Amino acid sequence: MNATDQIGQHAAERLMNAAREAVRRAYAPYSSFPVGAALLTERGDIITGANVENVSYGLTCCAERTACFTAVAAGHREFVAVAVTAPRVESVTPCGACRQVLNEFKPQGRDMIVVLDGAQSLTQVALGELLPRAFGAHDLDGAIRARGH
Ligand code: THU
Repeated sequence: MNATDQIGQHAAERLMNAAREAVRRAYAPYSSFPVGAALLTERGDIITGANVENVSYGLTCCAERTACFTAVAAGHREFVAVAVTAPRVESVTPCGACRQVLNEFKPQGRDMIVVLDGAQSLTQVALGELLPRAFGAHDLDGAIRARGH
């Protein structure tokens, strides 16, 4: 990713601090692996989330999806960046399911920036690097056109 595509250092740190705050509200009694996420919306708002586990393990919702669904339900549709933190490890990247969900809400004409935590410094990667050749709305459009609808 070009340095020019990254968000500013101050914005990245602010977003990560929001994720670090959110992780305190994680509900992770089964994995003991709390995760926090913070989304930066196109309008400059920050919406956070944490993982919410369930005794029926498969019903668990990751921090990134909790943040994403909270933000969309509040009326946001475009996310410039997402910061993710998991205090039990130095750095964590969004799972495959969360990458796909985040991919739905990239800002117009741009990639979403994923800010990863680290002991010394934060790392910024483009979502497109984590989910290359993603299945997206354009694929469905093609299928609809092919059927003549
Ligand atoms: N988890 C997240 O919340 N986000 C990730 O990016 C990776 C995994 C959660 C799911 C589960 O509650 C716990 O971490 C262990 O997998």
